[in-house]
Amino acid sequence: MTTDAAQIDRWWRTAVVYQVYIRSFADGNGDGTGDIAGLRSRLGYLRDLGVDAIWINPWYRSPLADGGYDVADYRDIDPQYGTLAEAEALVREAHEHGIKVIGDLVPNHTSEQHVWFQEAINAPIGDPSRERYHIRPGKGPDGSEPPSDWRSVFGGPAWTRLPDGEWYLHLFAPEQPDLNWEHPEVRSEFCDVLRFWMDRDLDGFRVDVAHGLVKAPGYPDANEEQRLLAGARGTENHPFWDRDGIHPIVREWRAVLDGYAGGRMLVAEAWVPRPERLALYLRPDEYHQSFNFSLLEADWTEAAYRKIIEESLESQGAIGAAPTWVMSNHDVVRHATRLGLPEGTDWRDWLLNGDRTVLDADTGVTRARAVALLMLALPGGTYLYQGEELGLPEVHDLPEAVLDDPVWERSGHTAKGRDGCRVPMPWTNEGPAFGFGSDEPWLPMPAEFGAMSVEAQAEVEGSVLELYRAALALRRDHLVDDEMLEFLEAGDGVFAFRRGSGVRCVVNMSTAPVGIDGDVLLTSGPLTDTGELPVDTAVWLR
Ligand code: NOJ
Repeated sequence: MTTDAAQIDRWWRTAVVYQVYIRSFADGNGDGTGDIAGLRSRLGYLRDLGVDAIWINPWYRSPLADGGYDVADYRDIDPQYGTLAEAEALVREAHEHGIKVIGDLVPNHTSEQHVWFQEAINAPIGDPSRERYHIRPGKGPDGSEPPSDWRSVFGGPAWTRLPDGEWYLHLFAPEQPDLNWEHPEVRSEFCDVLRFWMDRDLDGFRVDVAHGLVKAPGYPDANEEQRLLAGARGTENHPFWDRDGIHPIVREWRAVLDGYAGGRMLVAEAWVPRPERLALYLRPDEYHQSFNFSLLEADWTEAAYRKIIEESLESQGAIGAAPTWVMSNHDVVRHATRLGLPEGTDWRDWLLNGDRTVLDADTGVTRARAVALLMLALPGGTYLYQGEELGLPEVHDLPEAVLDDPVWERSGHTAKGRDGCRVPMPWTNEGPAFGFGSDEPWLPMPAEFGAMSVEAQAEVEGSVLELYRAALALRRDHLVDDEMLEFLEAGDGVFAFRRGSGVRCVVNMSTAPVGIDGDVLLTSGPLTDTGELPVDTAVWLR
């Protein structure tokens, strides 16, 4: 392989990937739901924004019990989103715009509507079709106790009883039965699914619940620590997270991708306890990349950011992996809101029933602008979530009646769910659904979205959108050509580093303006009258 080819093949190492939550991006046929037609009509927007790739959340045939993470057919597009032919056209057109396309592979579970699960539950007990899932007799004399005490990530037990008395495992909603990855047909099926999409020129896959898949033999009960563990985070020797048996599976997938030209990649959504465990997923014959969610949980302090960035660079650098940075996605409270909450607020709790008056929305957006410059100046790849380039806030006051996320019901209304970050994108100042394309979008859009729309911000000096555009353009010129980063001492509460090109990024996380020196390339907000960097503001300097 020539050096050039090696560089092209490793495009993801410095890529800015824009996450398209397709259901909420743009509605091309006016039925209330975003779709491929809408996305195709907005490719020019994404090109002008300056992103390198898009990652599209699941678009397969699905009853949408969990926003499409319940796949009924991995080789077809859900009619709400369009057709396979449209998907192929989208990939072609994105490539013409210089944009790569990453899909979303959901291997831990299928939909209950998947033909395999239907076959299994309609077959008699003991039928081999049941072996593709975890379908087992219960405990106790009459089998009325589930096979283990495992809890679902969305709340409630992880086992549901079938009418014939056996139980099936679902780490997420009951509509998402877990596949049995010990089964050879499951293994070969997913290699085939990968080939299906690689043949359609997809550039890679984000892999859902990459730390799931393999379950401990015999389904041992979880210990107390494991039971207490909220959400899908791995811990040591857990009965269903981050088990060693995952890695041979990943190697099979990687071999499939390596058979294709053009730099196809796999990025893992892996919640694992320690960097050493994460490193295993990033071995040369496994994932190309993994999401790093640590910034997303950080307090807004220089010490917290520095620690996380230092540790991430060290642990990933040690194994030759390129780090990634993520501030928002379709599962968390949008960061323009998170960063406006008082330090130490648990934003998941706040979303459910927290005092709304503690939210300082202006501070949230100011910090979100600063963090954009911070994140885009770091070495590695960056994942942006649709709407963050508009500074969109979490819609925290959606009426309960419209909530769609299974988390709300499954948790017995103790978690609000993720709808507030999935509200459709506003494209125009006015008009029905602010140009999203529907009269009635699947989630209601707040009135304030009009003034935050693409139309309201495009070519408006100082808008969040223009900040992202400028940053992405400058990043290409100054910040992607090496992996070097040097931390700088810039005073208490001021986070600063220099990149190999000489460009410095300074973020003022202190409580007073600070002086800066050098030529200003870009600032996240206006400097003070005396040329100082205000609180919660970032600058790129040369
Ligand atoms: C992670 C996805 O990001 C989330 O949206 C989904 O609910 C779970 N995996 C289950 O597939």
